[in-house]
Amino acid sequence: MGLKTIDRAVRDEAKDIVREIGAEQEKVIPLLQEIQKRHSYLPEDLVEAVAQEIDVPVSDIYGVATFYSQFRFTPMGKHLIKVCKGTACHVQGADLLASALQEELGLDGEGTTDDMNFTLETVACLGCCSLAPVVMIDGKVYGKLTSAKVKKLIKGYSDGKN
Ligand code: FES
Repeated sequence: MGLKTIDRAVRDEAKDIVREIGAEQEKVIPLLQEIQKRHSYLPEDLVEAVAQEIDVPVSDIYGVATFYSQFRFTPMGKHLIKVCKGTACHVQGADLLASALQEELGLDGEGTTDDMNFTLETVACLGCCSLAPVVMIDGKVYGKLTSAKVKKLIKGYSDGKN
């Protein structure tokens, strides 16, 4: 089996990343973190090129990547929405917020909208339980939300007003 054809530019970027982070086996996580920092997810070609650069089977790299929830394998939307499903938020109606968001965004569950505008995720606890139920959008916390409020909030982001 021959090596997959990978773009020259991708190979160059892989070299650059390895030069910056290091080629030792224990550098796999920092290497993946660097890839994700640059692209907001782990593009397959780039992961493969890095694997070849450091001479580690790409399956091993994916083994590590899938173990950590911080890594994503698909591109992210322009805005990242995190719905808290922790206990405090759950009892205050987090499920209703999640449903309202899915309805507003036309998603079935977690994921990214077709227009790549939003990525919806659920998280365990955002650390501000007194504001439950909480949603975080692009790092900004919104608390004491209702379905109506969260839908309005999303409209604001769609219109570029937030
Ligand atoms: S449970 Fe939602 S912020 Fe803690």
